[in-house]
Amino acid sequence: MKSNLIYLLLISMAVSVWSCKKDDKSSTQKTVEPTHIMDTHSYARPGEAVINHLSLDVTADFKAKTISGTATYDITVHEGADSILLDSRDLDIQKVTVDGTETPFTLGSSKEWLGQPLAIPIGPNAKKIAITYSTRPGAEALQWLDPSQTSGKKNPYLFTQGQAILTRTWIPIQDSPGIRLTYDAKVSVPKELMAVMSASNPQVKTADGIYSFSMAQPIPAYLIALAIGDLEFRSIGKRTGVYTEPSMMEKAASELTDMEKMVEAAEALYGPYQWDRYDVIVLPPSFPFGGMENPRLTFATPTILAGDKSLVALIAHELAHSWSGNLVTNATWNDFWLNEGFTVYFELRIMEALYGKSYADMLTSLGYQSLQETVKDLDPGDTHLFLNLAGRNPDDGMSDIAYEKGAHFLKMLEAAAGRDTFDNFLKTYFKDHQFQSMTTAEFVTYLQENLIKPNHLDVNVDEWIYGPGLPANCPVVTSERFTNVDIQAANFLKGQPAPSLNINGWTTHEWLHFILAMPDSLSKAQMKDLDTAFGFTKSGNREIQAAWYKLAINQGYGHEIVPAIRKFLVEVGRRKFLTPLYTAMIEHGMKAEARSIYDEARPNYHSVAYNTMDKLFSESKE
Ligand code: BES
Ligand code: ZN
Repeated sequence: MKSNLIYLLLISMAVSVWSCKKDDKSSTQKTVEPTHIMDTHSYARPGEAVINHLSLDVTADFKAKTISGTATYDITVHEGADSILLDSRDLDIQKVTVDGTETPFTLGSSKEWLGQPLAIPIGPNAKKIAITYSTRPGAEALQWLDPSQTSGKKNPYLFTQGQAILTRTWIPIQDSPGIRLTYDAKVSVPKELMAVMSASNPQVKTADGIYSFSMAQPIPAYLIALAIGDLEFRSIGKRTGVYTEPSMMEKAASELTDMEKMVEAAEALYGPYQWDRYDVIVLPPSFPFGGMENPRLTFATPTILAGDKSLVALIAHELAHSWSGNLVTNATWNDFWLNEGFTVYFELRIMEALYGKSYADMLTSLGYQSLQETVKDLDPGDTHLFLNLAGRNPDDGMSDIAYEKGAHFLKMLEAAAGRDTFDNFLKTYFKDHQFQSMTTAEFVTYLQENLIKPNHLDVNVDEWIYGPGLPANCPVVTSERFTNVDIQAANFLKGQPAPSLNINGWTTHEWLHFILAMPDSLSKAQMKDLDTAFGFTKSGNREIQAAWYKLAINQGYGHEIVPAIRKFLVEVGRRKFLTPLYTAMIEHGMKAEARSIYDEARPNYHSVAYNTMDKLFSESKE
């Protein structure tokens, strides 16, 4: 009995070593190749057995709101392993085979966010496992839309959102960003709909509603994505195009005409685009994010369609992920800044290349302002670039720290090294690590060896990455175009009427800066003056609307424009807009309105958005 216990203990110790980093010398199991790092957000133990390729054969049932079928995997089994572990959450697993033979499997107990480990016993020579399964209607990655929630109003729609750990709610998978796989898929959908994935895609509907896909480059599971709807494709450039519902196509295509130029600018900076085509799907407004960098096919919110191309930086951002994130991937969600910080930096460089420095400076300045707010609001422990998300939902790490502190860190390095040197460093970094994952520690070593030492730089890397707040050498960009906005804002506050302000040539970003420059102490008359002169409440620009509504609520002017706020929150499901607006209402005496709007709007939101809003309401005291 006692020796059994010791044996078990030894096994479990060995197992935890197997899933540790390659340079971990303490492993006594020489036969196992410990090439993966520990990811606390996945049950997978890739050091024992790992999936390399997924072959998906599924049907989307819009009546039952389920995806069901078979997922077949090519696997590599390391010596000493007797099972393979996959992540699964809220899945009904009907049958498992190993190399064609039906095999009993175990689903472990369920943990919040993580779901259940699916353990499949395997022999040392196992090559293929197949899982027959179906999703449940509440699967969190999936949003099933009724026709009324689409632009065309006639057909249903489905889209998935995998990042960070939701892919396991629609495919049993090793759902860790440190594990990469190729995939192919056959997806059956109602004949009147088209299916697209983060893979090679159709450009017209098929007669039978069956679609085949292939993703030949290895990607992490969070980048597997699917959308199904009444879709149409339009080409923009030689390898770029847009998918959306027919009634949105004109608007979408005319907004996104610069996509091809963006790809060219990105390649000129950091090397060849490695994913063949770059297309964008403009989704219904309930999409919970601005954009999601699904390889070959960025998923985007329609809230970027401002009519004047002023919000297309979001496309540059998602495109930039084709290098930072999709080519070189954060090894765990603690390393999230390696995805997002690099991507914001890269996005700004693409925008500068296309639209000039004064434009990029406005974006940088807006980013810096929101970074300062974030640093003020967050617990200092959450303001380190390298996060500690053990025991937490990785969604908690999604703050401006990863994005903006990360980008400012790289700007600081750029300033220290000089632009050409830094660009060469980044280009080589992407090339040296393509199709691999990256930990923060590995990056720091690479940075020391390839940028800091050779150029004799004196930079406080550890303070930036492992310390709180903003180090003293945080670069601050001043925007020329905002200097005039500040003057006009000051004039208004001194009493100059809104209609006589000099707003000549202002674009979306000047307006956003102007709204953000308003203090919380405006009178109702001042708010009315601004609204009448500039039409903020009725703006067709979602960013301006959101900024203005937040200001209005904070000023006590929100009561005057409740119908507009309600309409906005019912139509739009982008979490970045929802959180500040509901928070402002809860904190500024509009809790009842917030509740009533939320009751109406919640059915339109994706789980990512309603989970956050549910928490917001439940944590706010009466
Ligand atoms: N990859 C993110 C979205 C994401 C992050 C989803 C973490 C789930 C978990 C995407 O690239 C992103 O950053 N989107 C931003 C837009 C961007 C311009 C900052 C968004 O959705 O607002
Ligand atoms: Zn991003």
